Amino acid sequence: MKITAFNGSPRAEKSNTQIMLEAFLEGARDAGAQTETVFLAKKSIRHCTGCFACWTKTPGRCVLKDDMAELLELYRGSDIVVLACPIYTGTVTGLMKDFLDRSIPLADPHFKKSAQGLWGHVERYERLPETVILSNCGFPEQEHFRYFRSCFQYLSDIGGMKIIAEVYRGGGEILSVDSLLLKPLLYGYKRTLRKAGREVAEKRALSAALKEELEKPLIPPDRYIEEANKYWDKLLAKVPKSS
Ligand SMILES: Cc1cc2nc3c(=O)[nH]c(=O)nc-3n(C[C@H](O)[C@H](O)[C@H](O)COP(=O)(O)O)c2cc1C
Repeated sequence: MKITAFNGSPRAEKSNTQIMLEAFLEGARDAGAQTETVFLAKKSIRHCTGCFACWTKTPGRCVLKDDMAELLELYRGSDIVVLACPIYTGTVTGLMKDFLDRSIPLADPHFKKSAQGLWGHVERYERLPETVILSNCGFPEQEHFRYFRSCFQYLSDIGGMKIIAEVYRGGGEILSVDSLLLKPLLYGYKRTLRKAGREVAEKRALSAALKEELEKPLIPPDRYIEEANKYWDKLLAKVPKSS
């Protein structure tokens, strides 16, 4: 089984998204999956120009010459794709949005009604990968994923995406904090992510017990905010008075 993760954080290898992804993919590899990670920040992906040439002039191919053709081949050749991306202003990063927009060559312009009763586009290819959504955000509560998750739910509702698992981590900045006190906590969370990766690779779904475990706060939200404010204060104290 081939799993390809597309990491849409501008921080690429240094991202909290990548910390989550590494643990998740490790679990998938435990179950025998072959995994690959693509950092969108390291690729050339231009904005979609809305010309629809990929539907009407060169069906299935975008006329823009950048890395997207190669990425769509990788996408199509995978059994599962992980769309991994932090929350930026309530939704996906610009990198991930460009990647999603530029995925429209995977669809055919004709319309069909989805299982949810909404008109969407016909899929160009018979076989498309199943999708896992993985994200973290700065604010502590899981409720902050409401809008982000509904964006992907929409893509699923119109028929172009089959979401098999969602992994969200509020208060995600804690993942990259290097502190002895936090080590056991973060180790425990990574172990849960690893279990999730294994389960998804084995069963193409997450059990109710693991879903519940993944949603639990790592530390109480008030405590997280207190520590975050101290962190900002420390950084701001270094700013020269004239700035
Ligand atoms: C431009 C920008 C917008 C952001 N918007 C939100 C937001 O709407 N909600 C939130 O909870 N966090 C927000 N954050 C915080 C990030 O989600 C947080 O820093 C996250 O840990 C970054 O993950 P990464 O290291 O994987 O890139 C924002 C960060 C940036 C830079």
